[in-house]
Amino acid sequence: MTGTDPAERAGRSVLVSGNWKMNENHFEGLRLVQELAAMLRVTGIPEGREVSIHPPFTSLRTVQTAVETDRVPVALGAQTCHHEQRGAFTGEVSAEMLAKLNVAYVLAGHSERRTFCGETDAVVRAKVDAILSQGMRPIVCVGETLDQRRGGEAEERVRRQVVDALSGRSSETIGGLVVAYEPIWAIGTGETASVDDAQQMCAVIRDEIAKLAGPGAAAAVRIQYGGSVTPESAGPLLAADDVDGLLVGGASLDAERFVAIVRAPA
Ligand code: PGA
Repeated sequence: MTGTDPAERAGRSVLVSGNWKMNENHFEGLRLVQELAAMLRVTGIPEGREVSIHPPFTSLRTVQTAVETDRVPVALGAQTCHHEQRGAFTGEVSAEMLAKLNVAYVLAGHSERRTFCGETDAVVRAKVDAILSQGMRPIVCVGETLDQRRGGEAEERVRRQVVDALSGRSSETIGGLVVAYEPIWAIGTGETASVDDAQQMCAVIRDEIAKLAGPGAAAAVRIQYGGSVTPESAGPLLAADDVDGLLVGGASLDAERFVAIVRAPA
C-alpha cells in the first residue's frame, strides 16, 4: 500500500518540524522564533501544511510565551521526554511537564538519543506511551545505519522499529501519530537520501502500519523524511507520494532557510 490515492493523500496535512537539537540558548531561541514569526507573517504557511519547532528544554517556556503572545502559527514541540511519569530520575523531564507548556509534538527515539543515550526500542515504546498518555502526539523516529543499508537490512530494521514502538495500539491512535524516517547516515552529514530511497522507505513504513493497524491507520498516519533537508531538496521530497512532511535539523536554525523549506513547492 502506498499513499498514491490522491483522495487519501489530500486527507493528510504536511508536517514540517524543526529540531533545534542542543542549539540556541533561550535568548537565541527567542530571537529565532521572532524571526520566524516576522517571516511567516509576510509569507504565510501554505494551505495543508503545519509547522512544529522543537527547542531544547531550557528554551521551551520562552518560546511558548513568544508563540502564544504573538500568535505565531507554529506548534510547540520537544525533543524527548522520560518514559516514567515522575520520580527520582535526576536530569529528566516528564511528558506531563511538557504537556503543561502546551507542547503538542514530542520526538521519540531520535537516532541521536538511541546512539548517545542508549535508548532501546523498548524505551522508545515506553516514551510513546508516556507522550500519548498526556494527550500529545509522538513523532516516532526510525532509520537504519549505513552498515545496515549496505548489508541489505534497512527495510527489516525499520519495520522492526515500527512494530516495536507501535504494535498493540488502536488503529485510531496509530493513525493520529507521526513517524519520521531518518536514515542515520543522512543526519547532519550533508547527505540526503535520494527521493526514490526516501519514498521507498516511507512506503515500507506505511505498509507495516497497514499490517499492524489496517488501511485506515495507514492512510491517516503522517510519515516525515529527515536527514540533511535543505530548501533545495524539500520540494522534491514533499512531492513523493508517501512523504507527508520533513524533520529538519541544521537548516531549522536559520529562519530564512526554514521558512523556504516550509514553503517549498511540492
Ligand atoms: P539534519 O538533522 O537536518 O541536521 O540532518 C535531521 C534530524 O536529526 O532531525
